[in-house]
Amino acid sequence: MSIEKKAFGILADGRKVSAYTLRNEAGAKVKIIDFGGALVQIKVPDREGNNADVICGYDQLDSYINGDGYQGALIGRFGNRIGGSKFTLDGKTYKVSVNDNGVNSLHGGICGFNAKIWNAEMVDGDEPRLILTLTSPDGEEGYPGKLDVKVTYTLTANNSVVIDYYAVCDKPTILNLTNHAYFNLGGYNSGKIFDHKLWLDADSYLPTDEKLIPTGEIRSVTGTPFDFTTEKTIGQDFDLTNTDLGLAGGFDHCFNFKGGETEEPVLRGILTDEKSGRQMKMYTNQPCVQFYSGNFLNNEKYPFKNNYPQGLQNALCLETQKMPDAINHDNFTDCVLRPGQEYKYTTIYEFGVI
Ligand code: GAL
Repeated sequence: MSIEKKAFGILADGRKVSAYTLRNEAGAKVKIIDFGGALVQIKVPDREGNNADVICGYDQLDSYINGDGYQGALIGRFGNRIGGSKFTLDGKTYKVSVNDNGVNSLHGGICGFNAKIWNAEMVDGDEPRLILTLTSPDGEEGYPGKLDVKVTYTLTANNSVVIDYYAVCDKPTILNLTNHAYFNLGGYNSGKIFDHKLWLDADSYLPTDEKLIPTGEIRSVTGTPFDFTTEKTIGQDFDLTNTDLGLAGGFDHCFNFKGGETEEPVLRGILTDEKSGRQMKMYTNQPCVQFYSGNFLNNEKYPFKNNYPQGLQNALCLETQKMPDAINHDNFTDCVLRPGQEYKYTTIYEFGVI
């Protein structure tokens, strides 16, 4: 119904950062900043019709620049970790930036897509859209090939936030784009997400080592705390004496959807907060989701909006993606993009009430 641009802040080098607010007839509101293409606000109604902001994040640009956690940001070139910060593609070994635990590469490296200013184009209409583009030069953060990326955010009439990802390259490369929004359906300031119920259409997950690099095993969820094939609360099996949960401090694992990648987006996850009545359905055509239960949300220096303190498990991420470190495991999903091919996928977060 409308899209509006406002100043959000200025970077140290003088570049201006803007915020874009998308509104629909139903009264939902979505805010995105061009710094990191970050989703900074989603206001949707509870069962009484009261809007709350279900996205964690900050009030000011400085926190998006210096605070950790990749709040709401677009992630690239490669979502999650690359073990040892290196990989071999077509017989050539590439070293990518080390920015995690002194050895691994996380979420695209030192200056990933979360730290770029994206070009923004506003498209007004019943279903307002924000089209974000950027070009990543050949060799950026160690990744081969020039990459042209386009991400479109759409707010639909039925309170869905649709994220369309698109990219092309000029040399063989690897790619794993996602969004790092932190959700709390009670509102960003409503505490732990242990009572949220989750259903995931995932029959296996990837165990990791202590630095959160997948071991290479693809393990069935059956009989483990990772079985969300029947809806349950996040708190129910949140047991840090379980080896995999203990290593990560909670859920921070790649869940693999039944049957893998699909042509069209398919319903793969449902998150429900019975207290407020808000529910979020997640559709995607990606093969996996990183379900991260906010196990590092404890940076006191960067409180959330309205000074609400960070807190472990105060929000969760559902990052649709291919498998982390895929290029270093022959049995993992394909993550190579070649010239002439189009990287294309859609994730929909649809908000409703129960
Ligand atoms: C997640 C990742 C976590 C952590 C977080 C950022 O996507 O799975 O291990 O790195 O990003 O704090």
